[in-house]
Amino acid sequence: MVNLTINTQVKKDKINPEIYGHFAEHLGRCIYEGIFVGDESDIPNIDGIRLDVLDALKNIRIPVLRWPGGCFAEEYNWRSGIGDRSKRPQRINVHWGGVIEDNSFGTHDFMRLCELLECKAYINGNMSGGTVREMSDWVEYLTFDGYSTLTALREENGRSKPWKVEYFGVGNENWGAGGNMRPEYYADEYRKYQTVVRNYGDNRIYKVACGPNSDDYNWTDVVMKNAGHCLDGISLHYYTLPTDSWENKGSDIEFDESEWYSTLKHTLYMEELIARHIEIMNRHDSDKRVGLIVDEWGTWYDPHPGTNPGFLYQQNTMRDALVAGINLNIFNQHCDRVHMANIAQTANVLQSIILTDKEKMILTPTYHVFDLYKQHMNGSLLETSLICDNIEVGDSSIPHIHHSASINENDVITITVCNLSHDKSADISSILLDYDIAGMSGKILTGEINAHNTFDEPHEVAPSEFEDFSINKDGFSATIPPCSVVMLNLEK
Ligand code: AHR
Repeated sequence: MVNLTINTQVKKDKINPEIYGHFAEHLGRCIYEGIFVGDESDIPNIDGIRLDVLDALKNIRIPVLRWPGGCFAEEYNWRSGIGDRSKRPQRINVHWGGVIEDNSFGTHDFMRLCELLECKAYINGNMSGGTVREMSDWVEYLTFDGYSTLTALREENGRSKPWKVEYFGVGNENWGAGGNMRPEYYADEYRKYQTVVRNYGDNRIYKVACGPNSDDYNWTDVVMKNAGHCLDGISLHYYTLPTDSWENKGSDIEFDESEWYSTLKHTLYMEELIARHIEIMNRHDSDKRVGLIVDEWGTWYDPHPGTNPGFLYQQNTMRDALVAGINLNIFNQHCDRVHMANIAQTANVLQSIILTDKEKMILTPTYHVFDLYKQHMNGSLLETSLICDNIEVGDSSIPHIHHSASINENDVITITVCNLSHDKSADISSILLDYDIAGMSGKILTGEINAHNTFDEPHEVAPSEFEDFSINKDGFSATIPPCSVVMLNLEK
């Protein structure tokens, strides 16, 4: 039996919609083929952007998109991606398969994509491979609202008005591929580069500094101490691997119960990472002004057999759905500090929400989790307590059930529940304080642990109505099937 108590009298912080954010890099088939096919393609598009992908992203109300990388960002010169396409430089995408990047998708295309999606833009600047001048010029080109040589160039390239750029990342993984810097050195460089990330006109940029690689607590401490006063957010990157080895991560679809559980255990580690980084941030920023920006998260498996290993293509199963559900619950629960999170990545790379094959597109189980969770956006996190059994995993254990709950301005409560067991359902008995339930509905995503969608069977894993619940005088009871993600809506 699982006991869940929800106290509707304690509304905590607002769940920033950007927690449900995404990340699209020039990597493999993410931008090219996955999002951008060019305006001469037979695949239905607007300005070269796939219509099927646009519709899918709009349906989950994508709030923000990060671009152009990742590692790619640290090699990128924005000037390569503007002007006449036939004259754009052909460069080697050194990090991702060594293929030629023709720069046919650039700044104007990304900003058009955000405009069509009605989402915020999160641009990641180049710090280790680019100059302060390049960064300064990019910000001016994007956002300056007056006349200058750069804005005249912008107009020549088809855009007279400045764009709104809400988020700007100053460097990516500068502890690794982005320059192999020590935190002391990065913090000094950050202070210099961020100076040119200016607010022109009424555009206000939220500056994101490069944060730690998973459990590098010293990085957070040093950057917060030396540069905390001139940053708005600090990033955190953590990927979920089934195993403990980057050399042998495990397969995307061929896995047994033991890898199911080790993957979920590694996912839950996000809770400890966030809590400990926040503890350090609290020491330097007790007013909680600075946000923790989890701008790369998700599963990372061995490349799918038969695909280019440099393209990081992988399939996506019910296991990924659980990984997404757990991570999003964790971010909700820390919404006082987690201002944004961006799953890696949007299409055809790592834990994708969309997979494409020429004109075909499928939605993955992870996509459906974003669809189930979208009602949390802008809600207030509710105080809850959950008591459940644990599942033994090796010499440790994981909880049977993982959850979060929020309430919106119309007093509708959304509860998202993940059942981490591969074979045991969970009976939830809930008590709601100060809330009489007048109506209840639900949706469920479930299947075998390896279940996934393919181009031949695109709807093998899809959400359906969930009805295994009943309202009682204290709250409600529900039976949550094994290997499932359930969303419940309560109305007063
Ligand atoms: O998401 C793939 C890569 O993972 C990103 O480019 C990089 O930032 C991280 O190491």
